[in-house]
Amino acid sequence: MNQEHIRNFCIIAHIDHGKSTLADRLLELTGTVLKRDMKAQILDRMDLEREKGITIKLAPVRMAYKDYELNLIDTPGHVDFSYEVSRSLEACEGALLVVDASQGIQAQTLANVYLAMAADLKIIPILNKIDLPAADVERVSKEVINLLGCEKEDILLISAKTGLGVEAVLEKVVELVPPPTTSKAGAQKPSAAPGPSWETTRALIFDSYYDDYRGVILYVRVFDGEIKKAAQIKMLATSAQGIALEVGALRPDMTPNEALKTGEIGYIVTNLKTTRDAKVGDTVTLVTGPATEPLPGYKDVQPFVYAGFFPESNEFYNDLKEAIEKLSLSDSALQFAPENSPVLGFGVRIGFLGLLHMDIVRERLEREYNLELVVTNPSTDYQVELLNGEELDIKSAADLPDPSRIQEIREPWVNGEIIVPQQYVGAVIQLISQKRGLQKNLSYMEDRALVSFEAPLANLLTDFYDQLKSLTSGYGSFNYELADYRAEDLVRVDFYVAGDIISALSLMVHRSEAERLGRETVGKLKEIIPRQNFQVSLQAAIGGRFIAREDISAYRKDVTTGLYGGDVSRKKKVLAKQKKGKERLKRFGKVDIPAEAFTVMLKRD
Ligand code: GTP
Repeated sequence: MNQEHIRNFCIIAHIDHGKSTLADRLLELTGTVLKRDMKAQILDRMDLEREKGITIKLAPVRMAYKDYELNLIDTPGHVDFSYEVSRSLEACEGALLVVDASQGIQAQTLANVYLAMAADLKIIPILNKIDLPAADVERVSKEVINLLGCEKEDILLISAKTGLGVEAVLEKVVELVPPPTTSKAGAQKPSAAPGPSWETTRALIFDSYYDDYRGVILYVRVFDGEIKKAAQIKMLATSAQGIALEVGALRPDMTPNEALKTGEIGYIVTNLKTTRDAKVGDTVTLVTGPATEPLPGYKDVQPFVYAGFFPESNEFYNDLKEAIEKLSLSDSALQFAPENSPVLGFGVRIGFLGLLHMDIVRERLEREYNLELVVTNPSTDYQVELLNGEELDIKSAADLPDPSRIQEIREPWVNGEIIVPQQYVGAVIQLISQKRGLQKNLSYMEDRALVSFEAPLANLLTDFYDQLKSLTSGYGSFNYELADYRAEDLVRVDFYVAGDIISALSLMVHRSEAERLGRETVGKLKEIIPRQNFQVSLQAAIGGRFIAREDISAYRKDVTTGLYGGDVSRKKKVLAKQKKGKERLKRFGKVDIPAEAFTVMLKRD
């Protein structure tokens, strides 16, 4: 295909503004998928995505429109995957900005627009859902004009649901999105000669996944040169080498071809065994005559939310480990290490890119691998500098060294943005400061406000989003990105049940919050832990100093009282059952601590 006739573009939008629905219409209109074969939102392949209505995986589709080849990349809308979004944007020249005309611009709309501007994309603004009675085209158009500095006539009005105005979207893509260029990524062609050059082949990986039958599959954008079937390929960042067993495009099913050429978007089936060899953002080149300069922007994404995952019973530990190893073949951001807790037994501590990422992994483990899990409260990592100059990165409060050896502890802070109707600004600012956050800036767009702030990530991990939603009657939208690690006065709070420290419950907090949190947590534990046949003390402590205490009074349950006299065998049976129950208690040490204690009790309110 002549490069002049290729258009590479993506759709960016806030969650639920209609990105996938629009993609469905485009596939239908271009005849890529026949209407009768159309499952709603065909690009969202995973069941989980379909249920949650969120896009997790990116599936690039090639469509034919008139005599043009249109490559559409569906990007995930969620903040946890913003690095993946940024790489997909790099693979394109244009972006359709979809805004729900009944909602207006939201926090993730802004975040995505900034990313698209950074990637220097041609942005085509679209108001969607104009069929809804609540659509306010005037107001939302003004917001878009203010954001992009465009003209009112530039904004397309559509209903992705009914198909109204969607044909015009295709026309605009052809008219406004520039054809692919090699210069976009700062490539220097070694010779002035036009056309593909074998010496300098460079393709950007913007997604990769592991297929049980075919191995690692890469989605790439070729910037220079070409990748032929059977070529020996090399990843510049990881130095991994492999073979391009098959190359081609998704239409939307895999359609093999002889080669992927300059400017094209497509897939490469490789013989690699794990996506860790070929991560998003890496540059693919050829083993013979490789490029030396990678395409710009590669980043090794590091998780910053951690939680312990334990099987319901120790005998399932190996199943859990195997399942996670399997998942991590496809998800190179997933990191894990074995963890052993006296209470919960053997498990793993997993690092995630954010809370949604954690939810997804948890659900997949439970659903696809049939595991029953106990998941500890999520936490962040902490950078610890010791007095002897040594630096540690700890991922669990339990790993904190003795405080007398510590010079300073740094915790991750985020830059956040919240968009709310004006009447909620006061409540939102109050919420931010309750979380030890600092309000940075306040600006207005039409009748809504944009509040920018900084806050410690740890304090946003549990129920911040729920609180924001309930404070703003569901209208607040929120977006954040990691800013930096800051030294703070942090301490570890430990919890003791019947005199035993339960390290899986330990948490890091700011000293100013420690006592309140200790008291609240002990109070919640008292509600969750059932009475035992001896008195159980619940205590919170910093170092050796106790800061809160509650007692659960003893209670002796005579399980045989309900049985009328005489029937000895029945009585024995019940007592045997009780004994079995006691064995289960033993698993949790002296006291039966229900699984929910490891999450519910730490919900901060
Ligand atoms: P994420 O994948 O979560 O980012 O969502 P999305 O942006 O892909 O949104 P999606 O296409 O799933 O649409 C969200 C909801 O809005 C669905 O229930 C759609 O049926 C509905 N919807 C999409 N477009 C329109 C439209 O033009 N009009 C109306 N009335 N509803 C629409």
